[in-house]
Amino acid sequence: MPDPQRNALFLDAGAASVQRCARCGAVTPELDAAAECARCGGLLEIVHATPDAHGAALLALFGLRSGMKPTSEPSGVWRYRELVMPSAKEPVSHPEGNTPLLARRTIQAFAGSASLLLKHEGQNPTGSFKDRGMTVAVTQAKRIGARAVACASTGNTSASLAAYAAHAGIPALVFVPRGQIALGKLAQSLAYGARTLLVDGDFDACLRLARDASRELGVYLVNSINPWRVEGQKTIVFEMLQQLGYDAPDWIALPAGNLGNTSAFGKALREAFALGLITRVPRLLAVQAAGAAPFASSFAKHFSTHEPVHAETLATAIKIGDPASWDRAVRAITETNGVVTSASDAEILDAKAVIDASGVGCEPASAASVAGVRQLRDRGVIGEHERVVAVLTGHVLKDPGIIQYYHQEMEPRPARANRPVEIGASLTEVERVLKSATSDGWGDLAKSDE
Ligand code: F0G
Repeated sequence: MPDPQRNALFLDAGAASVQRCARCGAVTPELDAAAECARCGGLLEIVHATPDAHGAALLALFGLRSGMKPTSEPSGVWRYRELVMPSAKEPVSHPEGNTPLLARRTIQAFAGSASLLLKHEGQNPTGSFKDRGMTVAVTQAKRIGARAVACASTGNTSASLAAYAAHAGIPALVFVPRGQIALGKLAQSLAYGARTLLVDGDFDACLRLARDASRELGVYLVNSINPWRVEGQKTIVFEMLQQLGYDAPDWIALPAGNLGNTSAFGKALREAFALGLITRVPRLLAVQAAGAAPFASSFAKHFSTHEPVHAETLATAIKIGDPASWDRAVRAITETNGVVTSASDAEILDAKAVIDASGVGCEPASAASVAGVRQLRDRGVIGEHERVVAVLTGHVLKDPGIIQYYHQEMEPRPARANRPVEIGASLTEVERVLKSATSDGWGDLAKSDE
């Protein structure tokens, strides 16, 4: 029977939503599992009841839920402008920030920390935390009338600079180590229109070159040694504290490379405490990749040494042997009674596989923070009931190459590798695959044959 409300845009108030065939009008309940109309095979569409509120009342309801007034600040950086750049008139903003604080049981279990939360900075407009510093640095570049902006990068800073410079209409020059940055990041820099220089050297060489260029050629340098970058990156901490109702966690874990972010976190906590936003300062846990860990080595010797290394790690974002913000980062760790550790590539890839398989996903360097938490829980440095926030600094799609390597190519096959399955176009083969489903994911395909 054709439904009397067949063409209605909405059902009567109070009715349950239904699935309705767009072709014949047949209606099925909203929990029906069929993917197409059981009667005629047409496509289904969802129809809801008329909402109780109309017009202005409905607008008010949506507004209330968003927590924003139409005029409120959409950027999670500029919301804190008094502590970032109070004199900014026209911020160059995409906007950025407003990243979520996530709890995922599988990641908590892996890290051995039941209260672990993840601040996912990969959900910024260009997919990394760099956007928070870049909106401020490029705003500064614009208001001082810079003729061009430049940075050296392991890929994320350059992607971010390219996007913000495009928005501001300022030419951008980026220096990246040739063949050593992840595909997604290189693609962004090209797509957003930065002049991309593939330098025959490592990141440390790129940074030296960029610094020289800025000194000699008058281009404005926006690496994290730029103080305005630090101001923007502080807002990761401000926003996290706000999300926690200013009840500070015991620990904040983050990956560390050039040490700009470690420095920014230290400054943010110093300011938040001085202003009375928090009454207790969390301890910072900075995690380097084992093959690029000069700061962790120095920490182990109470910062009595400062020796650059030749960097080697799969986590290309933090493949840095001579970090630029060293002294500021020493202060951040010392003042917060922090810890610096390092995680091997195997530990990083393991943590990444768990984070990825939870549906959250991150790039390799980001997983160092969770690998570090797991390590310190194992060693008993982080207590069982201590509250930890780990920062995920970049999006899973930044580095598709490593995902392909880990899941499809790595030998011996890692325990968490999710190999794709090639099949013929037959239902029997799909059925065979389905049999390997278990209550916690996909089991071994070979076993489903038994
Ligand atoms: N995580 C990611 C994803 C990064 O891209 C970086 C740094 C870090 C962590 C480390 O932060 O350098 O402040 O200690 N990437 C820089 C870049 C070096 O050029 O994109 P840091």
